[in-house]
Amino acid sequence: MTQDWVESSKCDRRLFRDMLGSFMTGVTVVATRAADGSVRAFTANSFTSVSLDPPLVLVCLAKSSGSLDVFTQAEGFSVSVLGAGQRDVSNGFAARDPAVKAAALARLADGPVPYVENCLATMLCDRERVIDAGDHVILLGAVRQFQAAGGQPLGYFRGAYVGFGLAVGELEQLGAPLVVGGLLERDGKVVLCRRPGASDWELPSRPLASGERHGVVLRDLFARLGIAAEASLLYSLFQEDGERRTTMIFSVEADAEIAPKTLADGTRVESFGVEARPWEMIEGEMKRGMVQRFFREREAGCFGIYYDTAEGGRVAALDGKPRPWADWHPDFPVKPTATRIA
Ligand SMILES: Cc1cc2nc3c(=O)[nH]c(=O)nc-3n(C[C@H](O)[C@H](O)[C@H](O)COP(=O)(O)O)c2cc1C
Repeated sequence: MTQDWVESSKCDRRLFRDMLGSFMTGVTVVATRAADGSVRAFTANSFTSVSLDPPLVLVCLAKSSGSLDVFTQAEGFSVSVLGAGQRDVSNGFAARDPAVKAAALARLADGPVPYVENCLATMLCDRERVIDAGDHVILLGAVRQFQAAGGQPLGYFRGAYVGFGLAVGELEQLGAPLVVGGLLERDGKVVLCRRPGASDWELPSRPLASGERHGVVLRDLFARLGIAAEASLLYSLFQEDGERRTTMIFSVEADAEIAPKTLADGTRVESFGVEARPWEMIEGEMKRGMVQRFFREREAGCFGIYYDTAEGGRVAALDGKPRPWADWHPDFPVKPTATRIA
């Protein structure tokens, strides 16, 4: 299909705007407080990330906006990224009807600058610069604080809101909230992996996508490392500081000696004993603590299960080795099936 070139200087503005609408965006709400204490906000899909270091973002505000002076003079503003269920919020802050807009403004959360609560992400910005740009101004903000949560985004495409259905479901699996891994041991040594080019070592682990069985994932993970092993016991359940994922680490005894090797993708696999202080070779305070605990407990001959709590975590001591379900509860047999592992 051939398409004609349109001269933007000669065409109707609406045609130009419609063309821009083919660039799909998310939807944000930009808010600030005026000198008299009143709150101002507008819906914006012109949000763009600009720089990581320093952290800068921008939004474009129409010069026709009744809040132009307030935004260009305010010390700072917030940008809240809306989720799929927040069309009403978007409509509220884009409304021309003063009553509708006032109702939306009244629901803003109070902070150093007002912001919309329960969004996918919120950034609190200092005004870095205001740049004149045609019939808009560019509000360049230096992000001082931000928060982010999971969820599906609200999209905007050709003048209409869009959802992402399955595609987002798949994306969310990439950002799976759970990671499973193994503290693989053989003869007093634990297995660590190092990806090509990385300086830190890691415990073998993998995100658990929704619907996947952790036992199967772990067995495949070990098999990929060329190690025959079955996870036996949950050893630690934690969330590293600043990490959104929860990590479940199982203790695992390998069936045979583990020889150092380099996998086809360049990952190095080695096992380390206590004298190598392997906990110092990995990243993450929780993981380091866990590996150190493992060696201490191994020496003492008494293991525990750790779970992360707001007060700093708890360890429940284990008395003896894990036993098959049928031995523990002979009266309630569980039928093993081919797919049921763990
Ligand atoms: C999805 C969507 C995106 C929008 N994006 C912008 C934008 O990036 N910049 C802008 O100035 N107005 C944008 N608007 C329009 C404003 O939200 C709207 O004109 C609002 O009423 C302006 O606030 P004001 O009444 O304080 O001027 C958008 C509206 C919608 C529905």
